[in-house]
Amino acid sequence: MNNGNTQSDFIIIKAQQDGVNVIGLTRGSDTRFHHSEKLDEGEVMIAQFTEHTSAIKVRGNAKIMTSFGEIESEKTK
Ligand code: TRP
Repeated sequence: MNNGNTQSDFIIIKAQQDGVNVIGLTRGSDTRFHHSEKLDEGEVMIAQFTEHTSAIKVRGNAKIMTSFGEIESEKTK
């Protein structure tokens, strides 16, 4: 559930193909990539929004679970 504290919410990303990228983008006036994590099929990453991370980009086919529900990112061409 969303407890109103956006910086403690976890999201879960489960890769459905090899080479899924989970990219963290910085918080603040300068929005840039600060971390890229590569997941192979079946691997799971559990991540939070933090003081340093305001957005998360997922590239490749993955299941993404959040307090809002579940969504699937599709494979890139
Ligand atoms: N050092 C980063 C941070 O504390 C680690 C991190 C947290 C991260 N959430 C992330 C990296 C999501 C990539 C994606 O903000």
